[in-house]
Amino acid sequence: MHPFHDPRRSPSLLHFPPGFLWGTATSAHQVEGNNTNNDWWAWEQQPGRIAHGHRSGLACDWWRETEADFDRMAALHQNAHRLSVEWSRLEPQPGRWDDRALARYRQMLAGLRARGITPMVTLHHFTFPLWVAARGGWLWPELPEALARLARHVAEGLGDLVKLWCTLNEPMVAVMLGYVTGRFPPGGGGLRRARSAAANSLRAHAAAYEALHAAQPDARVGLAAHLHPFDPARPASRLDRAIARLTDRLYNWAYLEALRDGVLRLGGRVHVPEAAGTLDFLGVNYYSRHLIRFDLRCPGTLFGRRLHTPGAALSDGGYGEVYPLGLRRVLLRVRPYGLPVYVTENGLPDADDDLRPAFLLGHLRALWQAVRLGCDVRGYFHWTLVDNFEWADGWTLRFGLIALDPATQVRTPRPSSVLYGEICRRNAVPDPGAAGTPTAAAAGPGYPESRPPGG
Ligand code: FCB
Repeated sequence: MHPFHDPRRSPSLLHFPPGFLWGTATSAHQVEGNNTNNDWWAWEQQPGRIAHGHRSGLACDWWRETEADFDRMAALHQNAHRLSVEWSRLEPQPGRWDDRALARYRQMLAGLRARGITPMVTLHHFTFPLWVAARGGWLWPELPEALARLARHVAEGLGDLVKLWCTLNEPMVAVMLGYVTGRFPPGGGGLRRARSAAANSLRAHAAAYEALHAAQPDARVGLAAHLHPFDPARPASRLDRAIARLTDRLYNWAYLEALRDGVLRLGGRVHVPEAAGTLDFLGVNYYSRHLIRFDLRCPGTLFGRRLHTPGAALSDGGYGEVYPLGLRRVLLRVRPYGLPVYVTENGLPDADDDLRPAFLLGHLRALWQAVRLGCDVRGYFHWTLVDNFEWADGWTLRFGLIALDPATQVRTPRPSSVLYGEICRRNAVPDPGAAGTPTAAAAGPGYPESRPPGG
């Protein structure tokens, strides 16, 4: 039964604040296609890096033709979209700016606005131009100045069309997967390098924050942080509790604390004073949670084995358990920062769409509760509109409200796209008491192994 149209009951709705932003999120490399001049494209050409040897290829073909997908967003009543610009298109060689690339982004942003869709633009979403990667990527000492130049360039070129900017997407995920697990380029290096990379990313964020404000006084600038509850698998175990707490501090909060007080505490202190107070808003990316169980065989994850809750609904590929309460929990934990918050990503891989309707309803009710509890959440961006290239997982994980066959570019809406469209249109989610909650299929018993955030 469609939860908005249950004839047995008059629909009772949980309303969101007026002006709430409703949309989807994407990133340039995952949707544009033919981003041949960045480190991810090069990574995809190396054997063994991407599941089944998949490549981004044409992706969703957005560089050539995004407008039809913008029409789909509008038809689904979305009033916002988070996308990223591809640095390697805008500055293909150091100091050489491509005016046609900037013009294409202007055209895209104008196209969104013409459809009543407010854009939020991310400067850096996981990819570096080849020339930046060759100089060391996150470890390049001049990265902050280089990112600030990019920020100034796009603010001057696009600032009349965009007010909401994210400097970086999930910097902790990028450096942990890049330098610790090696699933992302550059493919390893160790914890010390990860710490240096994280510190440099903070400097780069701070430099971009300043540059955006200098070029565009009314800019609102934040970043998107991946927040992931880590809970003890056996609450009575002191070791499980201690490792869960430590993991939580390092993965979730060390970076955000550094943005507050300018000190990065990541197994040692690094002072980055210029990062203190450089957020006008916080972007929260929330997907799932991990249970942590002490295990000597897991030195790479601080001796914590990552598990799912027995019986929890699991999304495709063991990506994560469906845990709506986690969204409320992370939002309540960022409330003391006193910043406006956007949920800049939330979604799940679910090719047959059997979990997504309940996922949407559960998470949006949790979000509504967080707002009621005083969290200043201003918008929600579902990941994602159309299935796209999912990094090291290639095309194996399908996060779209709309299915895509990348070979033919044929799009097929999944039923949950209509449900989400109704939520966007009404600025409200049905009350479970009034319309019933679709049940999620429960996974089998046991403690299935979980995966690292973003991995
Ligand atoms: C996030 C990334 C995004 C996408 C989703 C599924 O960690 O920011 O690009 O891959 O996961």
